[in-house]
Amino acid sequence: MSSTVAGTGQPLDHWCKTQGAAPAVVDLVDAIAGGCAEIATLLHAAPLRGLTGASAEVNIQGEVQKHLDIMTNDIMMRRLKPLAAVACLVSEEEDHVVPGQPNGRYCVAFDPLDGSSNIETNSTIGTVFSILDVGEGVADEAGVLAAYSKQVAAGYVLYGPAALMVINVGDDTTMLAFDPAGGDFEVVQSGIKVPADAAEFSINMSYQSVWHADTARYVSECLEGKAGPRGKSFNMRWAGAMVADVHRVFVRGGVFIYPAMNKKGSEEGKLRLLYEANPMAMLIEGAGGMAIANATPIRELKPNSIHQRVPLAMGSKNEVALLKEYAEGR
Ligand code: AHG
Ligand code: MN
Ligand code: MN
Repeated sequence: MSSTVAGTGQPLDHWCKTQGAAPAVVDLVDAIAGGCAEIATLLHAAPLRGLTGASAEVNIQGEVQKHLDIMTNDIMMRRLKPLAAVACLVSEEEDHVVPGQPNGRYCVAFDPLDGSSNIETNSTIGTVFSILDVGEGVADEAGVLAAYSKQVAAGYVLYGPAALMVINVGDDTTMLAFDPAGGDFEVVQSGIKVPADAAEFSINMSYQSVWHADTARYVSECLEGKAGPRGKSFNMRWAGAMVADVHRVFVRGGVFIYPAMNKKGSEEGKLRLLYEANPMAMLIEGAGGMAIANATPIRELKPNSIHQRVPLAMGSKNEVALLKEYAEGR
């Protein structure tokens, strides 16, 4: 995909309708976009308002919550909870399923601020969301988990030099840019395709001593470069925010890996299935890429809790296929 994009003039809700999204889903996407626009404005003012630090709170993940984790969660809750279409909400920052409206049909599962450790360094962060068709009035964990495969929409907003949204509502994976003047997201690149091959991988190398053999084999072969079995050299990038590392895959291919590890508390990796892995998998597969947990496609998993962590690898399909082959041998 060319890395040069340009505005097409097509607004988000119009694009959603051309993709055949149900009117209620279009309304939910619009509300999510409004929340992310509000978050973008909040982030720009955060250093001036002393909001880049940590709160005294610890979330169910066992992570110290940043002030902005809490504030962005509040924004998304305020924007979504009152909507008639919302049956319930799942957030990285909420211990349990949050009931919405009695006749709502959809669950929005979201990570309000992904890459929180990047806040203090003014580095790229994002919001990730997934819309599940849970059925009217469903607002409990079992009902949400039962609808895991009924993901009707997924996307993220990346707060970088520009605020960019990448979204899929059942067909194309498409990129939109936020226009502060107009206050809306506008299509800049539709029908994104992830290149099948890549020469760039993304993994936190500091955990090398606790990788399983399959992960260690893949990475060492990349590092052996032209002289090694891959016969080509590889670059490495690690942004510390999944949204940034996966966005790079959409722009120029590559593979993003957060693996299972031989480390207490990281046996299933770190990233959460419902509001990180599953939405990103829909985006990646919608762009012709591949997304797996160990050797299983992420879309085929059977979740057992709303904050469940999963190991993952996603991106260029020929790279992920190699990781899948090595994982099968584990
Ligand atoms: P969050 O800030 O929502 O907890 O997510 C951070 C995640 C993910 O965005 C990123 O890829 C990963 O944590 C980085 O983990 P390490 O700090 O272990 O590298
Ligand atoms: Mn996250
Ligand atoms: Mn988060």
